[in-house]
Amino acid sequence: MQSFDYQTPTRLIFGKGVIEKLPKVMSAFGKKILLTYGGGSIKKVPALSDNPSAGSLYDYVHALLKDFEIVELSGIQPNPKYNPSVLDGVRLCKEHKVDVILSVGGGSVLDCSKAIAAGACYDGDPWDLISYKTKANAALPIVDIITLAATGSEYDSGGVISRTETNDKIGYMDRLLYPAVSFLDPTYTFSVSKKQTAAGIADAMNHTIEQYFAEDTTLLNDGFCESMLRSLMENGRKCLANPNDYQARAEMMLCCTYGCNGILSLGNSESGWPCHGIEHALSAYYDITHGEGLAIITPRWMKHILNEHTLPRFVKYGINVFGIGQELSEWDIAFKAIEKTYCFFESIGIPMHLREVGIDESRLDEMAHHIAVNEGLDQAYSPLTQQDIKDILVDSL
Ligand code: NZQ
Ligand code: ZN
Repeated sequence: MQSFDYQTPTRLIFGKGVIEKLPKVMSAFGKKILLTYGGGSIKKVPALSDNPSAGSLYDYVHALLKDFEIVELSGIQPNPKYNPSVLDGVRLCKEHKVDVILSVGGGSVLDCSKAIAAGACYDGDPWDLISYKTKANAALPIVDIITLAATGSEYDSGGVISRTETNDKIGYMDRLLYPAVSFLDPTYTFSVSKKQTAAGIADAMNHTIEQYFAEDTTLLNDGFCESMLRSLMENGRKCLANPNDYQARAEMMLCCTYGCNGILSLGNSESGWPCHGIEHALSAYYDITHGEGLAIITPRWMKHILNEHTLPRFVKYGINVFGIGQELSEWDIAFKAIEKTYCFFESIGIPMHLREVGIDESRLDEMAHHIAVNEGLDQAYSPLTQQDIKDILVDSL
């Protein structure tokens, strides 16, 4: 077991109607708030599922925070962009001397808010921080109301920012970027579309898989991961069948929250998160939905790395996650586990070929090179060369 130094400073406030605590929570951080949100779902999501007169989340946040001064940054897109969103947010924070950022939306809004939080306390170009040219000394506090279960950004220290002109999509991590407080009300996810719900299931499943397929794993961590995967599949299916199923949305939300902050792999060796390394290039080049890209890549990556050394991991995964019979040979269990992974994603409506999400062979070489140079996958669990990455991409077409 590897040594570690672990701390998650984020306060989670979970449950139906928890937004009522917002004014008290915000008052600990000051009076001037930058309210960040996306393309408009905030104006459709009901603030209180049992009380329609409270209006939309947007209206109710304003009503609750009537004694605060609010500056707004709207229009943050999926795969949030450095230019204009991060730059505009940093400018607004500096101009208005903002005390705290309130992010309302999915992972994209929150990721963008994290980059803004660091950029607002830095005198130079915020890209210096995101690209790790220099390290932040401070960041504004962040409070979030998460409305989509997927990324786990509400409980981790990372944000993923895209820079269109260079096809970069960088996972920017810093301990300063943990949200101070995350509000998780599962009813806010009732309105998430089937496409985004399925993408969220795939994203959180892949976060777990990236930590499960590693060296130095323990019985404890394996058990966490296996139960996460079973819960995500079972509750994910229920969310798709009945979007207003509170219990299923709630359990899926908590699974997603746990997915990315490292708690599932304390003591494991670093796996290098190879599927994320590959997917981030796909969504940087083609602006596709992150969870869909992961679902396409994951079974092809599994097939590619299956060998004598990795076989026992696949056997354990097949037996404990999918209940595959132990009477089969080890290789048959592994093949079946990969097939079941593919079939699950397909069964929840995810397009399972790159061509279906608008990616053809024309830029595969360029992307494989970009990934090999930037993502360090030669150090990953089952290391990948540029040719390996290209083969996985070709197999995903
Ligand atoms: O923009 P709005 O109008 O809000 O609509 C959004 C968006 O179109 C919509 N949506 C959000 N909540 C909704 C809703 N629609 C109806 N009802 C609601 N309650 O959903 C669409 C997608 O939102 P987005 O925030 O992009 O989705 P997600 O949360 O999956 O975030 C994806 C981004 O997070 C990054 C991904 O790479 C991608 O850029 N990731 C962040 C991670 C992290 N910080 O730890 C880890 C992940 O691996 C991931 O890379
Ligand atoms: Zn992810």
